[in-house]
Amino acid sequence: MEESNNNFEPRIIAFVCNWCTYAGADLTGTSRIKYATNVEIVRFPCTGRIDFMLLLKAFAGGADGIIVSGCHPNDCHYTSGNFHARRRWIVFRNILNFLGIDVQRIRFSWVSAAEGAKWADIVNDTVKEIRELGPYTEYKKVANYLDEEADSHE
Ligand code: FES
Repeated sequence: MEESNNNFEPRIIAFVCNWCTYAGADLTGTSRIKYATNVEIVRFPCTGRIDFMLLLKAFAGGADGIIVSGCHPNDCHYTSGNFHARRRWIVFRNILNFLGIDVQRIRFSWVSAAEGAKWADIVNDTVKEIRELGPYTEYKKVANYLDEEADSHE
């Protein structure tokens, strides 16, 4: 039975870099800023290391929305990882559109280690937006696509 949007609590997966956004999220906690608890954080050394296929896997695994967040431009601890991530996202977004996956469910942001309040705002806004969109029910389509991809490499 599908939940109505009023009671729907979205599951958000956040792929974040260790040096900026993860530290910013940590600051949110140590500053005791309250924010939605719907987010599960997955930490990477840098957004440049995030394989965008993981976003599809997150949807296939039941995520309703995704956040990808790292250091601001020119602040990446590996110089240009965030620029690579941004370029890959532009290409990947077209692939998602082609597959019919709703890109409104993915948010790309920059959050520094000093921006705990900004992290709270991003999570709260994302939860609100995804709550309005409703549960992601296309996950079987994504799972089938991933299965076909895996089969094609055997
Ligand atoms: Fe944060 Fe590269 S280390 S985006």
